[in-house]
Amino acid sequence: MTDPLHDRLERLRGSAQERLAAAATIDDVDALRHALLGRSGELTALLKGLGSAPAAERPALGRLANEVRAEVEGAITERLDALRDAGLEERLASEALDMSAPGRPRRVGHLHPVHTLMRDLREIFHAYGFEVFEGPEVETEEYNFELLNIPPDHPSRDLWDTLYVAEPGSAEAGASRPADDGTILRTHTSPAQIRAMRALDPPIRVLTPGRCFRYEAVDASHGFEFFQVEGLVIDRDTSLADLKGLLEEIARALYGRDVRTRFRPGYYPFTEPSVAFDIGCLVCSGEGCPACKRSGWMTILGAGMVHPSVLRAGGFDPDELQGYAFGMGPDRMTMLRHGIGDIRLFFSADLRFVTQFAEGR
Ligand code: DAH
Repeated sequence: MTDPLHDRLERLRGSAQERLAAAATIDDVDALRHALLGRSGELTALLKGLGSAPAAERPALGRLANEVRAEVEGAITERLDALRDAGLEERLASEALDMSAPGRPRRVGHLHPVHTLMRDLREIFHAYGFEVFEGPEVETEEYNFELLNIPPDHPSRDLWDTLYVAEPGSAEAGASRPADDGTILRTHTSPAQIRAMRALDPPIRVLTPGRCFRYEAVDASHGFEFFQVEGLVIDRDTSLADLKGLLEEIARALYGRDVRTRFRPGYYPFTEPSVAFDIGCLVCSGEGCPACKRSGWMTILGAGMVHPSVLRAGGFDPDELQGYAFGMGPDRMTMLRHGIGDIRLFFSADLRFVTQFAEGR
């Protein structure tokens, strides 16, 4: 005959499994653990009854009781794990995190088309041995004019009227006449020629890109703020032929092998002789259109052989060294490259305009 304690343990084993399966929440399982294994729990009560079982059956009953308890404890842990996993799944589902969704593209910035062109110039000239030499945007009248052979009363100064820098709050602040110390915003990058000559040993091949300023009425082709890229070569045997050859190569690298070019006589106080360099109009291929003022040509830079006075100002002997210089207008060159009709668009801060050049050119 079987012991009633043995039957009760077996029944509890069965019912514990059923009740656990029915426990739907972690709280339910905790309550069940308490009901079965707590101090006055059902299984605890059965274990306590072991002591009054007949001595011969006690070892077998003890083994069974331990087995049932281990089984119930294991089942409780398992059920808790399952419920926790289910909770996690539910949360993940509610958060709708789709790991397979494609990423959202990030909006990144890009270069302004004028900067792209200046970078291209830098690369092209680099192949001809030029390095970048920076000059300051805030200059002195001496560097901007006098040392470049433009004395104070020279009529060409009218072309280069600029913004004078004065101490804030002084009587001169905001006035368009020279401050006492002659500090101005540079009207061109040419003063960097003097700075380069004074800082470097010949032979010199430098490129100075940078911002310039002029007291200028703004229209479709003039800004009061614009860019220039200055070039300077100083060596023993340089000639106008070198300058012409170089500039023709640069134009081809920038605008294509078929670009037409021409040199015209020009005038600048700091070069002698001076030239203007034109390319065939890219808009009308030379037929004549409003963009080239019906001439078929567009001027992209001024250039010439460095004037002896400028060489001397730079600290060199004109009988020993010569050089050539050129000043390019990257704003205008960018307009030609993309067929842009109005320089003011470059500074308009209209993103619809600027983002057209996101691919760089
Ligand atoms: N600095 C001149 C300007 O702003 C441009 C220029 C002309 C630069 C001739 C040069 C040069 O170096 O040789 O109009």
